Amino acid sequence: MAEKKRRFAVLTGGGDCPGLNAVIRAVVKTFLQNGCEVYGVHNGFNGLINGNMQLMDYASVSGILPRGGTILGTTNRDNPFKFAVEQENGEIVYKDMRQQVLDNLKKYDIEALVVIGGDGSLNIGAQLARECGVKVVGVPKTIDNDLPCTERTFGFDTAMAMATEALDRLHTTAESHHRVMVLEVMGRYAGWIALHSGIAGGADVILLPEIPYKLEPVIAKIKQRKEAGKNFSIVVVAEGAKPEGGEMSVARMVKGSFEPIRLGGIGEKVANEIEEATGIESRCTVLGYLQRGGSPTAFDRVLSTRYGVAAAEACLRGEYNVMVSLYHDQIVTVYIQKAASKPRQVSVDNEIIRTGRQLGISFGDEVSVN
Ligand code: F6P
Repeated sequence: MAEKKRRFAVLTGGGDCPGLNAVIRAVVKTFLQNGCEVYGVHNGFNGLINGNMQLMDYASVSGILPRGGTILGTTNRDNPFKFAVEQENGEIVYKDMRQQVLDNLKKYDIEALVVIGGDGSLNIGAQLARECGVKVVGVPKTIDNDLPCTERTFGFDTAMAMATEALDRLHTTAESHHRVMVLEVMGRYAGWIALHSGIAGGADVILLPEIPYKLEPVIAKIKQRKEAGKNFSIVVVAEGAKPEGGEMSVARMVKGSFEPIRLGGIGEKVANEIEEATGIESRCTVLGYLQRGGSPTAFDRVLSTRYGVAAAEACLRGEYNVMVSLYHDQIVTVYIQKAASKPRQVSVDNEIIRTGRQLGISFGDEVSVN
């Protein structure tokens, strides 16, 4: 009688991100190469609740390495422990669907689950491991780069490259029209995209959630440049940036989402404040989902592939309830419970912030000297 094959499943959860397909491809290929079967779960945890999964083969992952998005689909709404169900009167009630997840894992005879996700999905994975005994291996995904216990999430490099290209383009139009151009970038409560793209794109001002800004140093920087004959300035604002003593700008609340706050709007506010205080025409561009869509950079393709292979290898050797992580350029594993803790923000004494200060970039907290 043929030996029963070990069987695994893989899902992508939360917001999409360049490199998801590269991870899926690496996970699937590694399992197949090692004589296992692997199911792709559709639409994140929703597919686990509804038993919506498909057996993957080499053809399922052929040609997807450079492709953006996720062939499995994703959602940042469906939490099996708090599954939002809309009533006829529009009211949302939350149901515990863990049993459905367990039943489906049993029905498909899944030994362990690879969860490719950000903090929301990794937290669900950690809870499934802790409270239900599900064997989970996490892969750190997010353009925001804000996960603890890893030096890099995949997707960040691509988002940073996209924001840098936007800054290069804004430079030429800013210079031509003698304007202040403000670019609002994503990142939630962390300023990694703003900081890195701001340095790479030669910004004059970078505003981060980690350093509440005062208007005075921002205006002083722009005026200083004007006095030095520079009739334009470039400002990068993280969507989570906020004025000193003020609040973050909330764009919308997403009904039924396990993390309902969506940030946005601070870029426009800053542009208006600058125009009012300096008299220099100012415009805001919100880069938005362009940061998440499209093909991953070469760096993200390599990182995603390494993460995918490492996640499947952890399953093969039975090392569960871990997340694969980048540490000193090596892929290691860390406990998923630890990895699913508080988001990782930029520290205010970060070396890249110091680098920026030496170049005269204003972070909105003190008047820069050059
Ligand atoms: O976490 C990734 C991210 O793109 C954040 O940078 C942003 O704040 C959020 O997701 C937007 O979420 P949504 O896709 O629900 O609008």
